[in-house]
Formats: sequence, structure tokens, C-alpha cells
Amino acid sequence: MYKDLFNELREAALVKNNLDTRKMNHEPVPIPQKPYPKGSKLIMLPEPDFLEDREISFLELMELRSTVREYCDRPLTMKELSFLLWCTQGVKMVLPAGTTKRTVPSAGGRNALETYLYIDKVEELPPGLYRFLAFEHALLPVDTEDGVKARLRPGFNKMNMYDASAVTFMWTAVLDRMDYAFGARSLQYIFLDAGHVCQNLYLASYTQNIGCCAVGHFNDVELNKELGLDGKEEFVVYAAHVGKIK
Ligand SMILES: Cc1cc2nc3c(=O)[nH]c(=O)nc-3n(C[C@H](O)[C@H](O)[C@H](O)COP(=O)(O)O)c2cc1C
Repeated sequence: MYKDLFNELREAALVKNNLDTRKMNHEPVPIPQKPYPKGSKLIMLPEPDFLEDREISFLELMELRSTVREYCDRPLTMKELSFLLWCTQGVKMVLPAGTTKRTVPSAGGRNALETYLYIDKVEELPPGLYRFLAFEHALLPVDTEDGVKARLRPGFNKMNMYDASAVTFMWTAVLDRMDYAFGARSLQYIFLDAGHVCQNLYLASYTQNIGCCAVGHFNDVELNKELGLDGKEEFVVYAAHVGKIK
């Protein structure tokens, strides 16, 4: 029964059980961003300092943020993509011990999430699978061969929305980065962190007239496989589609 499993996990995650972490024991700090092959050709994104901000009342933002599941064919600009990535994972400051200050909060500043993107409609970019490098504010092309879109499709149950969206965000967790400081409580914090990230995506999208839909209902096995993840050390935790509003 899943509730028994759930309770076991909850019991293991209680703070009282959770003091013997690698951080407590002053062990080496995990690297704060997943590495990538030396010599990779990165695509630098427009600088966050020069993005087009829109003045908007905070209460309007609260009132009007809503899930949008239909998108038109117009592509996002590179500036808009840069804006969404900055607002969801932008690195504001690198701190000691592998922690970072970002545009989103994260338990212990551990920031265990990585952002994969299926990019379908962004000006100047060939469609394909990319990874956002938050430290460089750049994109790492992962797979831009034909057929990537079709390979990722079984990961999503609302395929029309996936097909129509301009970009699909897929946030993965690198367990080790959170485990270092929080042990059995890591899973809880990873999911809480992901919620903050996606909320920022909703809010940032709204200011740019971009629709956004959070996706918790995805096929974990399919997506992990297609992203080349083992599903244990790193796994997809959350996704979202975005696209220009009709
Ligand atoms: C954790 C989470 C998972 C969600 N998963 C999906 C999903 O898989 N598919 C979908 O169409 N909407 C999904 N949504 C969007 C919700 O259905 C939506 O937020 C809810 O209906 C409230 O509407 P609103 O966002 O317009 O206020 C998800 C939202 C959250 C917060």
C-alpha cells in the first residue's frame, strides 16, 4: 500500500533522524552544476541585465496568473527565453561550499535542480534538446538531430499541448547535491524547490505574454530514458510547457 511506503519515507525524513550528513562531517562538497564535455559549443544567452522588463502591478500578477494550455505558432525570441531561464534558475552569486544565490530560493542554497529544455520554436535556435547552464547563462545543445521531438513525446500525456508549445522545461534533480546537506530529507526539499522554480516560470511568462502550464503528470521512465538519466542519481521531478498566447 503506497501509504505505508509514504509513511516510511516521511519517518526517515523527519529532522530528528537527519543529523549525520556529509556536510556535518565536513566531507568534500559536490560540484554545483552537472559537468559537460570540454570543448562543447555553448550558445550564450542574452545578458540578464539587458532583458526587456515589463512594469506590472504585483496584485495584477497575482490575480491574472493562470495556467494556459493553448499556444500559437509564433516563436519565442532569444531574449524571452533568456528571461524565463534567468527568472527560474539565474545565478546571482556564487558562495563557498557549492552553494549559490539564485532568483529562486533553495533549501540550504543547495540548488540541486538542472534545467533541460525541449526547444521547438525559438528564433535563431534549431529545435532540439538543450540543457541550461545556469553558471554560464548559456545553452548546451544535447541533441538537435531530427526525431528528438518524437522521442520525448511519449513522456507527456497531453501530447497536443507538448506539440504546440514553444519550449518544454524539464527540471531534473541531482540527488547528491541535496543529499550532501540534508540526507533523507532531500526528496522533500527537492520537490519544494521545484515548486518555487515553476511558480517563477508562471510569473515570468505572464509578464511576457507567454502562456505556461505546469506538468506533474509525465512518464518518469520515458523522460529519464530520453534524457539519458539513470532515474536514481538524477531524475525528472517536474516539467512545464510554455508558448506564445493565441
Ligand atoms: C504540481 C502541479 C502539477 C500539475 N500538473 C499538471 C499536468 O500534468 N497537466 C496539466 O494540464 N496541468 C497541470 N497542472 C496545472 C494545474 O492543473 C493548474 O495549476 C490548476 O488547475 C489551477 O489552475 P491555475 O493554474 O490556472 O490557477 C499542475 C499544477 C501543479 C501545481
